[in-house]
Formats: sequence, C-alpha cells, structure tokens
Amino acid sequence: MRKQRLGQVAVAGLAGAALLLTGCAGSGGSEGGEGGGDVEVFTWWTSGGEAAGLEGLADTFSQQCEGQTFVNAAIAGGTGSNAKQVLASRMQQNDPPSTFQMHAGAEAADYIKAGQVQDLSEYYSDWGLDDAFPQGLLDALTVDGKIYSVPVNIHRIVLWGNASVLADAGITSAPATVDEFISNLETLRANGIESPIAVGVDWTQTELLESVLLSELGVEDFTALWQKDGDWKDSRVTDALEDYKKILSYSNPDRDSLDWTDAEKRLVAGQSAYQLMGDWEVAEFETDGFTDFTHQAFPGTEDAYQWISDSFVLPVGAKNEEGALCWLETVGSAEGQKAFNTKKGSIPARTDADPADYPEYQQEAIADFASLTPAPSCANGSGCTLGQVSAINSAVGKFSTDGDVDSLQKAIGDATAQYGTD
Ligand code: GAL
Repeated sequence: MRKQRLGQVAVAGLAGAALLLTGCAGSGGSEGGEGGGDVEVFTWWTSGGEAAGLEGLADTFSQQCEGQTFVNAAIAGGTGSNAKQVLASRMQQNDPPSTFQMHAGAEAADYIKAGQVQDLSEYYSDWGLDDAFPQGLLDALTVDGKIYSVPVNIHRIVLWGNASVLADAGITSAPATVDEFISNLETLRANGIESPIAVGVDWTQTELLESVLLSELGVEDFTALWQKDGDWKDSRVTDALEDYKKILSYSNPDRDSLDWTDAEKRLVAGQSAYQLMGDWEVAEFETDGFTDFTHQAFPGTEDAYQWISDSFVLPVGAKNEEGALCWLETVGSAEGQKAFNTKKGSIPARTDADPADYPEYQQEAIADFASLTPAPSCANGSGCTLGQVSAINSAVGKFSTDGDVDSLQKAIGDATAQYGTD
C-alpha cells in the first residue's frame, strides 16, 4: 500500500490545457442557461450545525453567482443514511440533482468508476485551485489523472466528553489507552451514569468500532484492513472487537433507534459522559449553546488524524450545469470555505486559510492536521466503498443485538473481500 501524507500541498497543476476561461461558464446543461436558474444542491445537512454550515455556503453562493438560485434538496439522516438511497434511485432514473455531496476516497472512486460524475480537471486552473488543496486529498479525489469533485472541508473523528459529568466522577484527565477508557466507563457507571457512552444507529457504531481498531492496529495496518485483501483473521482484530463489545455494553440500550444528534443530546444533557463522533459534533454543540465539553483523539490514536472530506460533484446530466459549476467554484473559494467551515466544525480543505478566522477547536485541528498521520474513516467513506460501508453497517447493526464477535469478524471480512478497494 502506498503511504501518502494527506497534508502535502499540491504543487503540480491538474489541468492539461485551460479550456474554459470564465469561472461560471458551463459546458452546456439543461435548465438555467445564460440567465441563471435553480441549482439543486443535494446533501444530508438539514439541522443544527450542519444546516448552519450549508446556509453559510449558500449565502456566499448567492453573492458570487448572480442570477442563480440555491435550492436546498437536503435529506435528513446522519452521514447520508437516507440521502444516499434517494440519490442512487434518482441517478438510476436519470434524474440527478445539479450537484451532490460525497466523500473523498473510496466513495468518490465509486461514483467515478460508475461514470456518474463529470471530470472537473479543466476547471481547477480556471478557478485557481491547482495549488489550493493538499496533494494527498487531491489524490483521494482523482482517478486516472482526472479530478471529479471540489472538496469543501476535512473532518476528524474525535472522542467528546461532558466535562462536568466526568469531573463529578473524579475523571479529570484524558484516558490514554482503551483499558483506561473502559475503566473510566465503569467508574462513571458506579457513579450513577448508567450509560456513560452515548451511541446511535449502526453507522455511529461502525465509527466507534473503527476507532478501537485504529487504536489496536496503528495507522498503516488499520488502513490496509479495509482493502480487499485486508487480514480480518488477525488476532489483534479479534482483541479490538472484544474491546468494542465491552465498550458497547456501557452505551444506551436504545442506540439502534437514535441518530448521532440524538446521542449528542444525551451528552449535552449529562445522561452520558462520552460520545465518539466526527467533529461536526462541535458545530452541533455550538447551535445547542453547549460549551462544557472535552475532546481528545480516541485513546491510542493520538498520532492519527482520522479524516473525512466532503466534496461536491457535477453529476452526468446535471440540471442547470452552468449554475452547478458556479456552485462548485464557490465551494472551492476561500470565502465559501470560510463561511462553511467556521460553522461546520471542520477545517477548510484549502491550505491558505487563516486559523485566526476559526473557532478555537478548528484552530487546534488545523495544527493537528498539519502534523499528524492521516487515517481514512471507513464509516464515512474515505476508506471504504459504498457497498462495503453498507454491508459493514448491517453486520455492526446485527452485532448490536446479538453481540457475536466471531460472526461480526467474519461478516466484515467477507464484506471487505467482496467490496473493498484494490
Ligand atoms: C458525514 C459528513 C459530515 C457530517 C456527518 C453527519 O458523512 O462527512 O459532513 O454531515 O456525515 O451527518
């Protein structure tokens, strides 16, 4: 496996020849045309910090793309649990939106290989993006030398805590190992916090599981695990799954019916002390007015930046292509990224942002991203394909009920052998 630092800045130009000279000039398209029109933006950012980020981006779009109208086609459900199904059926019926959100990495390659998204390489030089993003991130968006989307951010998976609940149980420092973390969970329970870790539906469980795996295996072996030939029989994997089972036993029993935002509300209300979640969580805290939180990398993963990157594409057959291209130009612009990321909890994909423009959490994250080793998230599509994530989520959801480690290990190994990356 080739190791790539995600944080390396792109130096080579992507576009061979600059074909189009104006930023918003589309290559044809259906509705909209010269006079503008509706730009249907398909995401899963419907509420709280996610909606706030989208709104910031939409405002910048309105300023930068005169005559074009933002149409919000967001469908609720964390990490696109519902949106992706709707999108797949719309694509099948040749009814794509003007643009949609997807993840850099294995998920991006899925859409590219399926021929569902258009090559944007030529626009990168028109929009001044050739040197704007880290090379490792561009590589995660590129297939056969062509780039098919514009990244808006980089998220990280983080362990969040309710500071007062932890302090009340006498926990004042960050656990450094999984064992110490499990012992904290026990202490919290003994102090009356019956479900000290807040967990939601299957994909949030997959996120937690992969953090335990990252802790046990380290970045290189963890990353290799999601590839077709990943060694799911490794005894360290079994150990990690056993630890995951223990951790899950300290979670809320209604986990399978809660989205990540419902689990976050448990943390905010002090019903739970911890939640493992992407740093869109900090944006949700912001909209909830909650400031009493702690954050740390999951124990044992301190050298890693477990990343996810949201990117926007131009689908084949997009409605109002000219308007969609203008949206993509906004997504890649310094103004658009600032408007979005200051509200979304993520750091900008662009490397020229001024950290001083960002809230405290993102300032730390920008510095961490520059110094840590990238590890892709499976649950959020950077390390795993769409089919793989879906099969793994089913296995993890089943495990939530039966707790059978052997069958979980086998099911994820089978899903990876079938759908994993080469
Ligand atoms: C991820 C996405 C994040 C956030 C999260 C929860 O897939 O990358 O931006 O939206 O889902 O919905």
